[in-house]
Amino acid sequence: AIREVVRETLSPEAPPLALRNRPRRNRKSAWSRALVRENELTAGDLIWPLFLIDGERRRVPVQAMPGVERLSVDEALREAERAARLGIPAIGVFPYTDPALRDERGSEALNAKNLVCRAVRAIKEAVPNIGLITDVALDPYTSHGHDGLLDGDRILNDETVAVLVEQSLIQAAAGADIIAPSDMMDGRVAAIREALDRAGFLDVQIMAYAAKYASAFYGPFRDALGTKLKGDKLTYQMDPANSAEALREVALDLDEGADMVMVKPGLPYLDVIRRVRDNFDVPTFAYQVSGEYAMIQAAAQNGWIDGERAMMESLIAFKRAGADGVLTYYAPVVAERLRRG
Ligand code: PBG
Repeated sequence: AIREVVRETLSPEAPPLALRNRPRRNRKSAWSRALVRENELTAGDLIWPLFLIDGERRRVPVQAMPGVERLSVDEALREAERAARLGIPAIGVFPYTDPALRDERGSEALNAKNLVCRAVRAIKEAVPNIGLITDVALDPYTSHGHDGLLDGDRILNDETVAVLVEQSLIQAAAGADIIAPSDMMDGRVAAIREALDRAGFLDVQIMAYAAKYASAFYGPFRDALGTKLKGDKLTYQMDPANSAEALREVALDLDEGADMVMVKPGLPYLDVIRRVRDNFDVPTFAYQVSGEYAMIQAAAQNGWIDGERAMMESLIAFKRAGADGVLTYYAPVVAERLRRG
């Protein structure tokens, strides 16, 4: 009997399945797929994080991030021009600080002539039409690699906020368009907003790293910055097991005056991006962090995945999850690829 049924089903005379709905119809051709496509990635969705290093005409590869280099200010300038040409609206800068300049308190963060400030001034002057984002946190400057001040092994909150306020003012004075606190101290957005306003920087925006998790995916970034972290960041960055808490963090940062919020890392936290998007009507960004980039690059280099397709798929996933834009090390590569069509 089984054989009989199989023969009838497979016969060329068998009637088509009585399906009213065939979702595949809309996928039958490239034009039809384009017609029904729900989300689109454009160069305007991209923010490019750049790594800086002292010196001139210097490009130093980051070992754990194939394709990414630390750039001296003159080289960063050139890349900023390239980004502007490609229609990338904003870039972020992160410094590799000379180990000799690092100390317990991260003093170099408050040097108005530090690497970040010099880069911001130079880029602002030469490429005025690109947005410049600076990170506020002490980890590139501390000998212990933490984002804040330490008392023994405790990260001090309020004392750190005071330093972050000063760091923000210095960056704003150098010409930063967007201040991005990535430190996860409580109350820093309010303190920074108030100080910016009092100093006359009414138009300087704040992009809050609102829901930032204590993640293993930051590993290659710490390599890029030369950070040797003592211990972990579990007392200030969020527990990867939580998502309701992310909504609380976002609500607080918005209440404190954040203009836009960020979820970080990206792909492992798409559910958090979606919850934020559904709960708050504010510009919401995702950070495809160093470890996410490194995983795709490593698998691609081994021939295990198609790197370019994985890159594009990972980025459209952020749009699908509801992000308005993505910080990604792929930004120029993607923008070039989008331009080619
Ligand atoms: C530091 C900071 C980190 C990243 C951005 N800002 C690392 C950390 O918190 O330890 C990670 C970015 C990446 O991994 O690409 N405040």
